[in-house]
Amino acid sequence: MRAAVFVCLLLGWVGVAMPRRLRGAQADRLAITLYYEALCPYCMKFVTSQLNPSMVRQDRLPFTDLTLIPYGNAKTNDDGNVECQHGVMECELNAWHACILEHHDIAQSLKLIACMIRGKKNRLDKCADHYQIDVGDVRNCKKTRQVNDILRKYGEETARVSFMGVPAIALDHVYDADLSGNLTDNFDAIFCAKYKEKFNKQLNNCQ
Ligand SMILES: *[C@@H]1O[C@H](CO)[C@@H](O)[C@H](O)[C@H]1NC(C)=O
Repeated sequence: MRAAVFVCLLLGWVGVAMPRRLRGAQADRLAITLYYEALCPYCMKFVTSQLNPSMVRQDRLPFTDLTLIPYGNAKTNDDGNVECQHGVMECELNAWHACILEHHDIAQSLKLIACMIRGKKNRLDKCADHYQIDVGDVRNCKKTRQVNDILRKYGEETARVSFMGVPAIALDHVYDADLSGNLTDNFDAIFCAKYKEKFNKQLNNCQ
């Protein structure tokens, strides 16, 4: 009994004394913000061949504060209607992505969105089935709200940065066109380098 109490006290003390980043699964996270739209071919390519492999296969997600902004080159006109670059279908798909992001954490959202973005139509049911994720809340979000309303906050986020085209990638909350272009083609290696620069830590499987 006394030994057990002692162990508990000791563990409690270690818990307090250890710096936050060594405790549990909490690691330092590098912020990545992706501005994209559902039907742009380069966005599809970036998400499926760069971002998702880095986050999932190389396991960078626990070290990333990842934000997806599904709005891209859309514009909100004077009537408050969102007009998307690739038409009404794209606005619909952006809104589906937004509803996913509102109702699921980033790990589940990325799975669903990376799966959906491969098709040019709504593949939510198929993707949700594949990953066994319940998306009733997502369907309800899309059914009960207007696309303009769902996308409003992403329009506001997007208005704060000026990028030429999508995908546009901000690193550590800063958008730089040159770096964004480099990240588009070589995401994982640059992520590794910037992570090391900021946190002085080499992540696994970094070249
Ligand atoms: C982008 O890549 C080029 C070629 O490797 C390099 O010269 C340039 O410095 C990079 N730009 C940024 C902002 O990292």
